[in-house]
Amino acid sequence: MSSAGSQALDHLPPQDGAGLEDAIFDALATAVVMLDPEWRVISLNPAGQTMLEASIERSRGIPFERLIDLDESWRSLLMQVQSEHFATVKREMPMMLHSGAQYCVDLIISPLPPTTKPRLLLELNPVDRLNAISEDAHLRDAQASMRKVIKGLAHEVKNPLGGIRGAAQLLARELDDSKLTEYTDVIMEEADRLRTLVDRMLGPRERLATRPMNIHEVLERVRQLTEAESDGAIEVERDYDPSLPEFEADPDQLTQVILNITRNAGQAMSGQGTITLRSRARRQYTLAGKRHKLVCSVDIIDTGPGVPEALLDQLFLPMVTSGTKGNGLGLSIAQMIANRHGGLIQCDSEPGNTCFTLLLPMET
Ligand SMILES: Nc1ncnc2c1ncn2[C@@H]1O[C@H](COP(=O)(O)OP(=O)(O)OP(=O)(O)O)[C@@H](O)[C@H]1O
Ligand SMILES: [Mg+2]
Repeated sequence: MSSAGSQALDHLPPQDGAGLEDAIFDALATAVVMLDPEWRVISLNPAGQTMLEASIERSRGIPFERLIDLDESWRSLLMQVQSEHFATVKREMPMMLHSGAQYCVDLIISPLPPTTKPRLLLELNPVDRLNAISEDAHLRDAQASMRKVIKGLAHEVKNPLGGIRGAAQLLARELDDSKLTEYTDVIMEEADRLRTLVDRMLGPRERLATRPMNIHEVLERVRQLTEAESDGAIEVERDYDPSLPEFEADPDQLTQVILNITRNAGQAMSGQGTITLRSRARRQYTLAGKRHKLVCSVDIIDTGPGVPEALLDQLFLPMVTSGTKGNGLGLSIAQMIANRHGGLIQCDSEPGNTCFTLLLPMET
């Protein structure tokens, strides 16, 4: 006799039940892998495919050790679950892919029938990723309050500045002596410089002019500009995923974002070297507290000396700079534009390998 709960489900045609399970499996943010008794891959959900950098088509039936470095600690855990028939939980387990990518995961391994030598269900929760989500929220809060301060300050500065410039202009008209008008010129030039600075601090004013676009159209524009500006001293290497679909975004503002980052990269490499632009799709990814089915990621990689340690925490705040010429605004503007698109920019830097990653939701 079936229970009330199962009676409620009984009226569903069987394919709906299976479809629902598949949908749940596909929508899970946790990477899930199912292994047969010989540790070959039976199934891998989309989050698992992203994490393990392998499609289900390519990995079905292959030994799990072809996807990750299955060292002694992994093997003994898998064997333990298969021999004891009990699920096991291992916190902060190191995991290395053959591509060299390293993770620290909270791992749950559960046995599935048959009972003699069970299949295994692995749930992999990257610990670093969870930290990244909270850092991301922290960063957005810091930037939102900084923006409020800048808005207020800009208003206070711009009004008197207009007055100073106007007065200098009137004074210049009254002066015959060219030596004296040199001084009024300095006042006007400096007032203009300050006004431009304040406008830059406020960031791009216009609303986003979005249209369906392909990210590679933006990357190609940046590549051409970068190579032209450096007279060929900077080479831009392309590593694109051509299967990325179009999505709604503002191509001009995104060009500004990537240019701000590549210009920094060029400056860090003293004007010559190679910058790599890499595009990829990430599935089931959380950005600004919202889960997205598909996210476009763009890595901008340089081989310069790396971001100075002291700047790393505040890199995306305005006026943070190590240069004498820069205003420390490029990255804060870039981050502002990324946020307006519902995305964000992250940085991972060590000497010889600096990677800025732009992540953008692709709602289609
Ligand atoms: N690829 C990079 N490698 C090393 N350091 C970097 C890199 N990108 C940014 N930085 C550091 O971050 C600082 C802030 O960058 P940001 O673009 O915001 O300002 P800026 O380049 O100094 O000035 P502006 O962009 O306003 O001209 C830079 O001064 C530099 O020290
Ligand atoms: Mg800059």
